[in-house]
Amino acid sequence: MEMISQFKSASDNSIIPIPPVEMRQLVGTTDLAVFDNPTGDNVLPLLGERSYGEIFDFGCGCGRLARKLLQQNPRPKRYVGLDLHAGMIKWCRENLEPCDPNFYFIHSNVYNKGFNPQAEVTCKEFPVESKSFDAIVAHSVFTHLLESTAMFYLQECARILKPGGAFLTTWFLFDKADFPMMQTFQNALYINEEDPTNAVIFDRAWLKMALAEAGLVMTHVSPPVVRGFHWELRLEPVESAGNEAELVEDLAPRGHVPPPVLTVHPYSIGSEDS
Ligand SMILES: C[S@@+](CC[C@H](N)C(=O)[O-])C[C@H]1O[C@@H](n2cnc3c(N)ncnc32)[C@H](O)[C@@H]1O
Repeated sequence: MEMISQFKSASDNSIIPIPPVEMRQLVGTTDLAVFDNPTGDNVLPLLGERSYGEIFDFGCGCGRLARKLLQQNPRPKRYVGLDLHAGMIKWCRENLEPCDPNFYFIHSNVYNKGFNPQAEVTCKEFPVESKSFDAIVAHSVFTHLLESTAMFYLQECARILKPGGAFLTTWFLFDKADFPMMQTFQNALYINEEDPTNAVIFDRAWLKMALAEAGLVMTHVSPPVVRGFHWELRLEPVESAGNEAELVEDLAPRGHVPPPVLTVHPYSIGSEDS
């Protein structure tokens, strides 16, 4: 039986819907516990007090973080989630927006072969003001961006971050020194020839260069728990950053954590014509 808290918090018993299983599959986990925050704790301890300010969730999927922030006590002052999958944004608008007038969801109509194949552009500016967010979260998003779009979106995230803000993000990383055939302009590895955004692994040195170019400094680094898997980084604007953290060696044990194999038409899930 699926066990999950249906409530906003201990003091508020209105029901917060849970995304359907086919959407949870699209974002990589159907485990209900990762959509739930029954104790109302700070969901993003690495952000400190910023967890209660204005939060931008790049690649918000079906509202995993939003749902937990709706349960957080206190909630953030404003939350904006943005994703390219129309069906998941529609579900979030219909089911999560009504829970709080300060929670908003935006569809970004950019191309993705599996999730948004009809779009004509690969990158779009975020439709929000510069320096307007205390915190940005991009969990398991840069692990699905091509090299050209990753640079664009790093710069967009840097643009909308307030001085003193922080940006939590995850990456798959490798060392290009081990791949002598790679050109200077080739800095990412792609595992899936049908859809290269299925999982993307970036060169460690390229990431450091890209962050410097975007004006961001790594101030916290959590190495992966499985070798080569998610690195968790906290990035801060160079003008207000704390001490730089070292991108340590990846000494985690080896393991197998493949991305989900997608259904035939993932883009149609949750949309009118699905
Ligand atoms: C693995 S899912 C993670 C979703 C969510 N962050 C979470 O942790 O549950 C990756 C999400 O990033 C979104 N995404 C990928 N590229 C994007 C882009 N260029 N613009 C907006 N969303 C994007 C996908 O549509 C998908 O919902």
